[in-house]
Amino acid sequence: MDHLLTEQQLDIKSAIREFAEKEIAPSVVERDEKSQFPAEIVRKLGELGFMGVNTPEQYGGAGLDCVSYAIVIEELSRIDPSVGVICSVNNSLICYPLQKFGSDFQHKKYLRPLAEGKLLGAFCLTEPGAGSDASALTTTAIKDGGEYVLTGEKAFITNGLMSDTYIIMARTDKTSKTKGISAFIVDADSKGFRRGVNEKKMGIRSSDCCMIILEECRVPAENLLGNEGDGFKVAMTALDSGRIGIAAQAIGLSQGALEAAVKYSKQREQFGQQIAEFQAIQFKLADMQVMTEAARLLNYSAARKKDAGQRFTVEASMAKLLASDIVMKVAMEAVQIHGGNGFLKDFPVERMLRDAKVTEIYEGTSEIQRTIIARQLLTE
Ligand code: CAA
Repeated sequence: MDHLLTEQQLDIKSAIREFAEKEIAPSVVERDEKSQFPAEIVRKLGELGFMGVNTPEQYGGAGLDCVSYAIVIEELSRIDPSVGVICSVNNSLICYPLQKFGSDFQHKKYLRPLAEGKLLGAFCLTEPGAGSDASALTTTAIKDGGEYVLTGEKAFITNGLMSDTYIIMARTDKTSKTKGISAFIVDADSKGFRRGVNEKKMGIRSSDCCMIILEECRVPAENLLGNEGDGFKVAMTALDSGRIGIAAQAIGLSQGALEAAVKYSKQREQFGQQIAEFQAIQFKLADMQVMTEAARLLNYSAARKKDAGQRFTVEASMAKLLASDIVMKVAMEAVQIHGGNGFLKDFPVERMLRDAKVTEIYEGTSEIQRTIIARQLLTE
């Protein structure tokens, strides 16, 4: 289908597709089984410029547009959404807010190596008691001379075990809910910084996820990202971009599940013919294709709005909401088309269905996306 992509975007698409098929596909089953982080793949993605796709070249990124970024995450996730989310977090939740809110010092010390893939980043907003209600966070940051002292716990941190650099939201003022939050750049080797164990997850098992524990963790004042009180805005800005990434993850996975279903329906014979010849299967495949394309177009539209320098909060929420909804339907139908084989680990659709669910949860649940969309509708 023609998505009105430029020559450059088409080149990126074929380059990343080739990379994913050659470098990622061979280990996807084993890494899922062993919950193994794809360290070597992430290193190669960094060398190719894919850990800072949408970051300007002056900061060490590839300097590509947001549509290209969506294409990269889609193509990675078509093969392995674990790799997709690792890359998306670094691009959207780390490089993007650092670019927008960072000082010259922070651009040089952190953004450049992160965008070049020499460091990996993680984003720490969620806490055990503050998930959807992100501004209820209770981690504190108390100024002490030239440092801030951070104390608290962060939960469900993607890239948490493997990262070098963490953007951590903490409360500098208890009198204001959202305006009392500040963002900090924290090095993994900071005193008082500790990681929990790798969480045992339903899906995207090759990406890691853990608690981050801050026990009077000392952070230099120069690592405050933006101004004191900007932390909630930093987090929401990062999540706007992140939601395009997670939508792309869902769309790529949906594409992968659709392709697996098409392939299987042409191989499997019942009642003396390929099951693809039954209209019941054809209708399922057609619906899966339409849903995937609709989500893709909505996400490109959000990305194009970002590329045009316009606010894209609602568009990103709509794209994530639709994409995560359709990937659940598409992955479920892909399993159904595979029949008994779809229930076995011998076929990729079993993993795909497990991998799909999280897209309805992280970077804002589907209910939160609906809240964002409805709030805008009702204030217009
Ligand atoms: N961009 C810039 N500013 C924003 C913004 C945005 N997208 N969204 C809100 N703000 C600003 C508002 O303008 C407002 O500023 P003023 O006070 O100056 O007007 C301020 O932030 C507060 O906004 P709200 O009143 O809307 O805040 P709220 O407490 O009602 O929360 C919410 C809104 C949308 C529900 C938000 O809490 C939210 O997004 N929750 C979901 C959290 C989430 O997505 N967590 C994901 C964790 S990260 C993750 O999952 C990563 C991973 O592992 C892969």
